Amino acid sequence: MARLVIAPARSLTGSLQVPGDKSISHRYAILAALAKGTTEIRNFSSAVDCASTLGCLRRLGVEIRTEADRVRIAGAGLAGLKRSWRALDAGNSGTTMRLMMGVLAGQPFTSKLTGDDSLRRRPMRRVMEPLAQMGAQIAAREGGFAPLEVRGGALQPIDYTLPVASAQVKSAVLLAGLFADGDTSVTEPMATRDHTELALEVFGAEVARNGRTIRVHGRPQLHAQKLAVPGDLSSAVFFLAAASLLPDSNLMLNNVGLNPTRTAVLDFLTSMGASLRLVGVEMQQGELVGDVAVKHAPLSGGVISGEATGKMIDELPMLAALGPYTEQGIEIRDAAELRVKESDRIAALAGNLRRMGAQVDELPDGLRVAGRSAGRLHGGEIDPRGDHRIAMAFAVAALGADGPTTILGSECAAISFPEFFERLAQLTDR
Ligand code: S3P
Repeated sequence: MARLVIAPARSLTGSLQVPGDKSISHRYAILAALAKGTTEIRNFSSAVDCASTLGCLRRLGVEIRTEADRVRIAGAGLAGLKRSWRALDAGNSGTTMRLMMGVLAGQPFTSKLTGDDSLRRRPMRRVMEPLAQMGAQIAAREGGFAPLEVRGGALQPIDYTLPVASAQVKSAVLLAGLFADGDTSVTEPMATRDHTELALEVFGAEVARNGRTIRVHGRPQLHAQKLAVPGDLSSAVFFLAAASLLPDSNLMLNNVGLNPTRTAVLDFLTSMGASLRLVGVEMQQGELVGDVAVKHAPLSGGVISGEATGKMIDELPMLAALGPYTEQGIEIRDAAELRVKESDRIAALAGNLRRMGAQVDELPDGLRVAGRSAGRLHGGEIDPRGDHRIAMAFAVAALGADGPTTILGSECAAISFPEFFERLAQLTDR
């Protein structure tokens, strides 16, 4: 297990291209596999999670070639996947497992799906229930946990109202809807990331949106595409936070995805006083993309609750770890979902922030992190519990601390951002 020491830093300067968006990469890969013809995807995410999706698709007989910065996927067509006699391994990736459940539900064969220790503790019932309503038979370990056995077959279309706002569950149902006759619809309690809807349209499916209801027409003909994945805003956020907190920082992040269902974090940072500027924003295959310039600025702090919490769910670890560097601190509420992510992120944040000297109240649905007046952070030994976003959030917090910080098992950052520590070191001035 790697022990990485992060020394305090003076500033962050230069420019950076973050890896391709993880959420979009999963979706493009899956739809490419179901399309007719060979899809080329540039700037495909380097994340280990996305490699897990490619691994599952390969096991289902899909031919995939990866080159330096692009992936070529020879589509099997909607009816072309083949049974895998070995279990499909989603690794650490909830998106892989949940989206693949939707695809496997529509196959005329049975599949086994498994993942690592963390993924085998994450809730799958939320996906099993709608897919069972559509006619799939899914067996899970007691409590609704992987390993799973998905017995697919002819599916009925359904109109499903999501009990939990989740883009993964929405996507699983819409993907299963591709294998049903007629229209399948999903209604969400609040708008979640809409990459699946956008990608379905790009590949040629018929998708209709009406308020919070998304409808997909079954058995479309999907066609191969030439695509480029925007940079991952959820990865960019670590650098936006680092540059905001270190004096004299001046950083340009190029080609970042700015889909409005993902940008709540930019609004929140701006509301706290962060200096962010968007440049050259344009549309690529339905997704907004642009450069983000960031400079150091004092941050006021604030409260994140209600829908805002859901819209920044992946960025909350970084925002919480910024808390001690803000004027009034950061409070996060309505975030019980954080307890069922790659780790119990509320506990991981509270425990590790305290190790660095922060004053933290852990709440059932969030946490309260005291601001600057509670004292400066000293270094500490951080245990990210194998959770990539916790490791990266504390690497950033470490840059502003008074002493060195050790991140245990820092290699877990590769789950979403294998180049993270290298890029951080390149841009850091000491
Ligand atoms: C994702 C959806 C979100 C997010 C996850 C990626 C996706 O999860 O936290 O990192 O790609 O659809 P939920 O659907 O569980 O909210």
